[in-house]
Amino acid sequence: MRIQIEPDELAVAARAADAICDVVRASPSTTLGLPTGATPVRTYAELERRVAAGDADLSRASAFAVDEFVAPVREAPGTNAAFFARHLRIRFHELRCPDAAATDPDAEIRAFAGAIRHLGGLDLCVLGIGVNGHIAFNEPGAAADSRARSVALTAESRAAHAEAFGSLDRVPSTGMTLGIADLLESRRILLIAQGHAKSAIVRVAVQGPESADVPASWLRRHADVTWLLDAAAAAQLCD
Ligand code: GLP
Repeated sequence: MRIQIEPDELAVAARAADAICDVVRASPSTTLGLPTGATPVRTYAELERRVAAGDADLSRASAFAVDEFVAPVREAPGTNAAFFARHLRIRFHELRCPDAAATDPDAEIRAFAGAIRHLGGLDLCVLGIGVNGHIAFNEPGAAADSRARSVALTAESRAAHAEAFGSLDRVPSTGMTLGIADLLESRRILLIAQGHAKSAIVRVAVQGPESADVPASWLRRHADVTWLLDAAAAAQLCD
């Protein structure tokens, strides 16, 4: 496991964009796993800037969301599909989200994971981390061998999305996610965390025991994972 600490969010975004661009440069038709949330917004803005400037070209790359809500309408405000439409306006070969409005969410996310496998798996999976240690929508309790499935969202995760959906009662209670085992099959993983609010969970995930209580701790089983942190998120790590 590599831990890379940058002074602030802007530097984290630049390094994360570097990592994505490096993979795409080495293999233009690469397959990426991408997160939503506040964490990657600056990274995606930096990618947009590089593409507009002609410094990067992701038009042959395939990008897959790592999770999605179960919602009545596919691109309802607050869904990950809506997030990507707003924050990642880059031309990819394809940018796919599970269909939030699928009638059978388990079948939908299993087919989605199957499509990733069909392309040979994720070359780089970028992840954020929830304050409770979740990665994608693998909430506490997610086993290391868990696969793509629908999941009940915790109150904490629902509260974090209240603004995006307009109010807490509009936040879906169910999500769909790639499982821990699916994420661990990625060739490389880049986990990004920023801000003081993430410092306690980063310490537990990186330096505490591997445990389903903190799903991000399973990433320690992966041979090529980088924790890209700003100084605030790294503040509680012990030497
Ligand atoms: C969300 C998403 C995750 C994301 C995490 C952190 O619920 N399902 O993919 O990484 O929570 O979000 P944020 O970056 O807003 O803290």
